[in-house]
Amino acid sequence: MQRFETYLNENLPKVPSFHPVYEDALGVMLTAGGKRFRPMLLLNIVDTHEPMLYNSALPVALALEMFHTYSLIHDDLPAMDNADLRRGHETLHKRYDEVTAILAGDALNSDAFYLIAKAPLREDIKIKLVELLARDGGSRGMVLGQAIDCYFENKPLDLEQIKILHTNKTAKLIAVSLQMGAVIVGLEKKVQDELYAFGIDLGLLFQIQDDIIDETQSEEEAGKTTGNDTDKNSFVNLLGLDETVIQADTLAKDLQRRFEDFDEKLQIALQPLMNTYLNRHN
Ligand code: IPE
Ligand code: IPE
Ligand code: MG
Ligand code: MG
Ligand code: MG
Repeated sequence: MQRFETYLNENLPKVPSFHPVYEDALGVMLTAGGKRFRPMLLLNIVDTHEPMLYNSALPVALALEMFHTYSLIHDDLPAMDNADLRRGHETLHKRYDEVTAILAGDALNSDAFYLIAKAPLREDIKIKLVELLARDGGSRGMVLGQAIDCYFENKPLDLEQIKILHTNKTAKLIAVSLQMGAVIVGLEKKVQDELYAFGIDLGLLFQIQDDIIDETQSEEEAGKTTGNDTDKNSFVNLLGLDETVIQADTLAKDLQRRFEDFDEKLQIALQPLMNTYLNRHN
């Protein structure tokens, strides 16, 4: 984690210009904090399987965090969730203005792919990594989820549809973080697929827990605007808080069982993250 933070701080977008705030706007949400869940999923796999590749994987991990941060900056915009607080700081459109926030998000999105392209990894691996991040972050993944999330505000969906929403907006980026780690260290396709399927359910749990956080935590605790899901198709709105907590616990137990079927190296890689995130609303 410390190595990733150091790398991130040393590799913030550097774009000197006569624009007074542009460069700051690109970096401020990246340095504001965040749990770094997605980069840690990737890096922990690399660290246990091919530690010699750790440094070469750092730009890919940063690409994931940049891409995720872009999605958060846009998620907070007035046109989407209209949130004032993110990672314990004012959101970018509050700190600067909407134009600056939209463009900082756009920049981080493209820069993520630039980082992967320039990483000191084999060319065929980098092409695969670009493909995977584009597949799950773009029109077939996160963007689709956000489109459904916003279009269906105040239009109730059923549970299956909410799962599709959560899978796209959140779970795919989490699942692909595991798969990208597996691609970097050359794990076979079957293991990649198992990790991806596990990551989808882990990501679903992550978003259910996020829905619980919106209901139960203060802004200070969460570091972001909460109580903000009233118009949303969240698990809590559909099932109520108690039933959502029960569903989250059931899913966490199922994930724990599946986790124990992974080989020892993968368990060592992911154990710390499982401990932190499987039961984080308790
Ligand atoms: C928040 O993601 C948005 C969701 C997809 C639930 P995180 O909970 O990972 O946010 P940070 O990165 O820690 O700020
Ligand atoms: C956002 O989900 C998921 C993204 C793709 C950014 P939320 O809107 O629930 O995330 P928070 O609660 O604002 O972090
Ligand atoms: Mg949202
Ligand atoms: Mg939001
Ligand atoms: Mg939320």
